[in-house]
Amino acid sequence: MIQGLNNIFTEEQINNAKKLLDSLNTEQRLYLSGYLAGLNQSGALSEGFSANINQSNPDKEEVKTTQLTILYGTHTGNSKLLAEQAQGLAQAKGIEVSAISLQEYRVRKLKDETNLLVIVSTHGEGDPPVSAEAFYAYIFGKKAPKSNNLNFAVIGLGDSSYAKFCQTGKDIFKQLNALGGNAVHDFIGLDVDFKDTIADVLPQVVAKFGGSKGNGKAAVSASVVQNDLASDAWVEVEVLEKILLNGKGSDKETYHIELDIEGTGLSYHPGDALEVQAKNNPTLVRDILAKLNIDENDIVDIAGVQMSIKDALTSSFELTVVTAPVIKKYAEKAKSQVLDNLVTNDPMLQDYLYGADFLDVITDYPARLDASELATLLRKLPTRLYSISSSYAYNPDEVHITVGAVRYQLNHREHLGVCSGYLADTINEGDMLIVRVKPNMGFKLPVDNDVRMVMVGPGTGIAPFRSFLQEREAKDAGGKNWLFFGDQHFETDFLYQTELLNYRKKGVVAKLDVAFSRDQQEKVYVQDRMRENGEELYRWLNEGAHFYLCGDMKRMAKDVKETLLHIVKKYGQLTDEQALEYFTNLKLKGRFQEDVY
Ligand SMILES: Cc1cc2nc3c(=O)[nH]c(=O)nc-3n(C[C@H](O)[C@H](O)[C@H](O)COP(=O)(O)OP(=O)(O)OC[C@H]3O[C@@H](n4cnc5c(N)ncnc54)[C@H](O)[C@@H]3O)c2cc1C
Ligand SMILES: Cc1cc2nc3c(=O)[nH]c(=O)nc-3n(C[C@H](O)[C@H](O)[C@H](O)COP(=O)(O)O)c2cc1C
Repeated sequence: MIQGLNNIFTEEQINNAKKLLDSLNTEQRLYLSGYLAGLNQSGALSEGFSANINQSNPDKEEVKTTQLTILYGTHTGNSKLLAEQAQGLAQAKGIEVSAISLQEYRVRKLKDETNLLVIVSTHGEGDPPVSAEAFYAYIFGKKAPKSNNLNFAVIGLGDSSYAKFCQTGKDIFKQLNALGGNAVHDFIGLDVDFKDTIADVLPQVVAKFGGSKGNGKAAVSASVVQNDLASDAWVEVEVLEKILLNGKGSDKETYHIELDIEGTGLSYHPGDALEVQAKNNPTLVRDILAKLNIDENDIVDIAGVQMSIKDALTSSFELTVVTAPVIKKYAEKAKSQVLDNLVTNDPMLQDYLYGADFLDVITDYPARLDASELATLLRKLPTRLYSISSSYAYNPDEVHITVGAVRYQLNHREHLGVCSGYLADTINEGDMLIVRVKPNMGFKLPVDNDVRMVMVGPGTGIAPFRSFLQEREAKDAGGKNWLFFGDQHFETDFLYQTELLNYRKKGVVAKLDVAFSRDQQEKVYVQDRMRENGEELYRWLNEGAHFYLCGDMKRMAKDVKETLLHIVKKYGQLTDEQALEYFTNLKLKGRFQEDVY
């Protein structure tokens, strides 16, 4: 941010600013950026530092506020980042503001709030993130307060590739309205590219809460907000080793990938994920351009950078997943009655989009597009996350991930997930990858090394538990570890078999229960192994064990949670309600943590 500004700052100022920025952690930098942006908005900074932004909703009256509560509900940290930005903005406008995680918020305080900004993501399949569950249940429950004195706004974070886009934010907005609250701004739903729009959106919303110093006009330096949201730098790392973990004949394709982070400054904790930048498959890019009759050398402007459409499709845009907003925009160009009907029928559209890539769409519904029309239509390529499967304490020079390749047949053509496909087919040992660490505070080892852990991680769900076990071994932790692992076949799919059996031998893993679903007539899953060991599992929980769940969200996670409830109910001799309360308590105490996808 500082480099290249020698014509604005003296060298001494640059050095001082750099020193200050280097001394700040991410949270402090975020706060500072929001604060500066807010000062700018209030007119306290010079003209040249700001860019005017149109307010989207001039009809809503601005309220004069002296106090504002910002509540955030997050799983992967994005909503927290935005809450911190909003806090800085509000503070600079002279508003007394607190930003609190919904997890820590005492819901009964809601009735006393007068000004509230909720920033919340959606997880699962349209569900609140775990940290927002209690608040969500409270406002929809019998004890929800009348909120006639409440001014509120809600920003939802989501991903438009999910059928229930920003559902939690939408639900909370609706419910606060229904409780009598006064919405000072329309609901705002932000997609995964929210970093591109947040410099416009956040000041607009905060401005609605007035403040004594602000004039209400949203004006903020976009670069201040954006730079700080991207402040955890990407690093380029070399692939040291890539090993296919499945044996010959397996239906699965899971890679263990080791990356060299020595000298990069990258560090991480067990439970964190690695964010990976992928590139689209060259064949897919070529076929799309050929189908649209676009020359691969045509130049397009991507956020001020000129590049060929081929390069733009390769690195900047999502092609393997088509979201509802993208196909709706495309329908305007395609002028097909059938497509128009499809995009107005949500269930049919979701059905069509499952598994379809952009080549399927332009094949099924041809249209004429030039290179720049194509570039304005597509969604920016989101990064992908992979649970880190190594421990920094155990090996600080490397980071490992465990990647299941997404590969399937549709329309007589092989389809490849963009990132897992890139890692499986394009990236080899010696190649470079661009990555950064995505911390996950909601999936952490017990602070006390003597506490027991139960880990359920079938398939690639094993990844964070390899990290947990390495860490516990490195720290010589005394707490007993119980691992449930499952996959299709013992012979070919027992990921990290040698390591896990070694851990079992050394006692790092006290108990190892495995379920190979397709090795016998009847399917057997990890939840069946849990049920078989129900009494002991319940005893472990009562003795303070933490329970961790990682892997497939759609079926496995639901089944495991139901099984856990069943076990608690049966061996604790509890009613349904009591079992649910037991489970909720585990969650509240951080003793049930999940990382499912
Ligand atoms: C916190 C977190 C941790 C994660 N950890 C891991 C991990 O450790 N290991 C891991 O492998 N993944 C992990 N993931 C998942 C990972 O981020 C990617 O989502 C996954 O690799 C797929 O991405 P992709 O780019 O390869 O596929 P995409 O290009 O995103 O394509 C995926 C899409 O393909 C479609 N699809 C998939 N299979 C089929 C099928 N059989 N038929 C039709 N359509 C299909 C679906 O529409 C799906 O949305 C994690 C995700 C999160 C959020
Ligand atoms: C496992 C998983 C499930 C998700 N489900 C949804 C969903 O149903 N609807 C949606 O709009 N977004 C969904 N998202 C996208 C997140 O809401 C989005 O990434 C958001 O920026 C996360 O914000 P947070 O870091 O504050 O949790 C999902 C993300 C993950 C990882």
